[in-house]
Amino acid sequence: MTFHHRHLCLLTTLFTVGCFLIVTADAGYCGLQDNYYQTSCPSAEAVINAVAVANFTSDAFALRFASGLLRMSFHDCHVDGCDASVLLDGPGSEKTAEINHFLTGYEIIDKAKEELEAICPGVVSCADIIAYAARDAIVALNGTRFEVQGGRKDGRVSIASRAESQLPNGDMGVDELTANFALKGLSRDQMVVLSGAHTSAAGHCPGLVKRLYDFRGTGQTDPSMPQAFADQLKFQCPKATFNESVFITMDTFTPFFDTGYYRSLQNHEGVFTSDQSLYDDERTQPLVNTLTDNNLFQAKFGEAMRAMGSIGVNLDGEIRKDCRKVNTVPY
Ligand code: HEM
Ligand SMILES: *[C@@H]1O[C@H](CO)[C@@H](O)[C@H](O)[C@H]1NC(C)=O
Ligand SMILES: *[C@@H]1O[C@H](CO)[C@@H](O)[C@H](O)[C@H]1NC(C)=O
Ligand SMILES: *[C@@H]1O[C@H](CO)[C@@H](O)[C@H](O)[C@H]1NC(C)=O
Repeated sequence: MTFHHRHLCLLTTLFTVGCFLIVTADAGYCGLQDNYYQTSCPSAEAVINAVAVANFTSDAFALRFASGLLRMSFHDCHVDGCDASVLLDGPGSEKTAEINHFLTGYEIIDKAKEELEAICPGVVSCADIIAYAARDAIVALNGTRFEVQGGRKDGRVSIASRAESQLPNGDMGVDELTANFALKGLSRDQMVVLSGAHTSAAGHCPGLVKRLYDFRGTGQTDPSMPQAFADQLKFQCPKATFNESVFITMDTFTPFFDTGYYRSLQNHEGVFTSDQSLYDDERTQPLVNTLTDNNLFQAKFGEAMRAMGSIGVNLDGEIRKDCRKVNTVPY
């Protein structure tokens, strides 16, 4: 990517007004565009949606994979940009990183890619498939639809240690989270808004045992947790014998894409430190309170996803034939 592109991305994410102007002029962030496949593969978005929805509705349990795809879009974009590096197989690739251990949805992307290659070979990038599928996941969870820009190209490099060093973790507080997002050109407010993705999310016991049993090396439970909430999480995640497959819902109200996450934080029932600190820190608490308005949350979330979807976009890469492998011959 040229310096000019990077500069434009940062400018547009920092100044919403500038971004709005550029988006309405149809240039989009970083050279991305709405309706990007309109002429090259008109059914692309519909095909991806059909594959995703077929998976989500295959059984009651499968709505789980909707939030998996949403997390995948974050884990793709936040590590060396939105370039589908998270999908590459191989020793030491991003998907082998501990932080990606519970990431799901790879097969949904494979299926969409297979169908797209059958109708418009070599046209739709894996990075764009992730971005569209994440939007469709939000809609399936009853969130509000937003336009997703297309035009990303796929990268050829995927390194586990880069996922570990670039992604934020659940033990972080507001300062660390803000600094982490700033490195990607995203503001503290956008960090708070994007954390709303946890409204239909599930965590797992391995990431929680420290907060429950050895908070900051004290051998104790995080004292800021309400007793009943801590007891319930300890019941779900017994100290030495927890079950890795147990889901801990991060919104204590509903499994839908709504404001329940922020209301959980107001009740001091944020599952990870990174969640609860958004309410406990006086700098971000006002925005948490504001985001309990569902219309506002949905609108802000869509805008923030468009910004996230433009991180480090690669306009000069390739269109992978198989999302799990780099092309061996130029496509
Ligand atoms: C603000 C910094 C963030 C931190 C520290 C963070 C941390 C976490 C943690 C610890 C989990 C649970 C992992 C597990 O135990 O399985 C999780 C799950 C999840 N995260 Fe985040 N996250 C952040 C931001 C985001 C963003 C920006 C998105 C998407 C826009 C997102 C979407 C999700 C989803 C959907 C899940 C649940 C996945 C599933 O149910 O399979 N997160 N996150
Ligand atoms: C749905 O997607 C998940 C995640 O990729 C996969 O494990 C599961 O087998 C899929 N279910 C169906 C019915 O295709
Ligand atoms: C789905 O979204 C609509 C519109 O925001 C809302 O009125 C409705 O209550 C939501 N349904 C559920 C089950 O959350
Ligand atoms: C672990 O939890 C999963 C999901 O709740 C459940 O299906 C499975 O039976 C549990 N395994 C054990 C050994 O308890």
